Amino acid sequence: MKLTVIGTGYLGATHAVSMAELGHEVIGLDVDQAKINALASGQVPFHEPGLPELLNKHIGTGKLRFTTSYGEAVPFGDVHFVGVGTPQKAESHAADMRYVDAAVTQIARAADRDCIIVGKSTVPVGSAARLQELARENAADGVRVTLVWNPEFLREGHAVDDTLTPDRMVLGLETDANGQYTEEALAAEKVLREVYASQLAAEIPLIVTDYQTAELVKVAANSFLATKISFINALSEITETVGGDIRTLADAIGLDERIGRKFLNAGVGFGGGCLPKDIRALRARAAELGVDQSVRFLAEVDDINLRRREHTVQLAVQQLGGSVHGRDIAVLGAAFKPESDDVRDSPALDIAARLHSMGAEVHVYDPQANANAAKRYPRLDYVGSIEQAVARAEMVLLLTEWKEFRELTPEQLEPLVRERTIVDGRNALDPEQWIEAGWKYMAAGRRIR
Ligand code: UDX
Repeated sequence: MKLTVIGTGYLGATHAVSMAELGHEVIGLDVDQAKINALASGQVPFHEPGLPELLNKHIGTGKLRFTTSYGEAVPFGDVHFVGVGTPQKAESHAADMRYVDAAVTQIARAADRDCIIVGKSTVPVGSAARLQELARENAADGVRVTLVWNPEFLREGHAVDDTLTPDRMVLGLETDANGQYTEEALAAEKVLREVYASQLAAEIPLIVTDYQTAELVKVAANSFLATKISFINALSEITETVGGDIRTLADAIGLDERIGRKFLNAGVGFGGGCLPKDIRALRARAAELGVDQSVRFLAEVDDINLRRREHTVQLAVQQLGGSVHGRDIAVLGAAFKPESDDVRDSPALDIAARLHSMGAEVHVYDPQANANAAKRYPRLDYVGSIEQAVARAEMVLLLTEWKEFRELTPEQLEPLVRERTIVDGRNALDPEQWIEAGWKYMAAGRRIR
């Protein structure tokens, strides 16, 4: 089939490449010429394992090309995926819909025949119905543009696998005043089943529902994950005070299949382009709808999460005798999680920047995210290795659990540091190993020994 993908960030670029891998012919479109130039020459402008190989493969097979022109892309495709960003607005917690609105408008205007728009961006509930109207208003007479909502659940670092073999797929269809799917929507569903035929043949579950449910599935999933993390982080505040071991606690409750062990890792909390933004946007949308109370607990989820950062900063201050001014601190990690160069709302970088603003000499090393971090906070000292970061450090903070940090040993750092003090902000190390080697070891959810 002939598809276009509008927006070539994490979501769009991965989707475009994955659709080519499923055998479709794909044009990726972005308004950012630099991004398009990079992708067209086989370069992925962000770190995502496996994606560059597949991109180059399908530029080679001729199944995948890129453009900045709606006039070129829209007449080519029968199905247009929209994967542009919905960032948090500067003035509020609500999602900024301007890029989605612009993409839908442009597709509808450029459509020369009936086509389908598939929304993949994360949007406030109620958006799809509005966007379907927007598409109708902007389409030429006699051209039918049908909108389907198909949220995306990919994780950074696993984007290709999550797109090719997702846990589930969701299609949100337009309903009429009686709550019945419209004929137009059912016809679009058939086309989408063809697009995803190989995945459906592999028995990946497909849930067909109305627009509102489909929109909510995405924010509900991310809000639930955020809540799980903040839950264990809240408990970590208790074990830090009373004693106990947060990892063992997480293992023990996680063995209950109803709870599950995933997303129960206590530490400096969640960040990235999705979880923080999505819980805030859901609250903002609930307030607009007059049901503020329903998700008020998400304010607490956000607070617990942000408290972990401040707590880590205060721990450093306290351990360095009341002030970090002029003190050498090594920060291992800047990305919001391993296998990513993304520093959006990153707890690691936020903590590093706060310590720097308090006068500390902060030396940051991240295997992939140094360049992005330097764009955000140019005044920190970014170095190219663990050894350089910890040289003469009076305190080491491990804030993103990259493999090379998880495998660190006390013997490796000992000859380099000035003080044997380590804060394991991700519970990534074996405490006994460090304590036995004479280190002061601190971690979220553990009493300092
Ligand atoms: C998330 C969702 O997982 C994904 O389904 C959705 O499509 C987009 O948002 P992502 O932002 O890539 O994906 O990151 P994720 O792996 O979910 O991690 C989010 C944050 O939570 C990271 O900062 C991570 O370090 C943190 N985290 C995760 C914890 O602090 N503890 C955990 O146990 C798990």
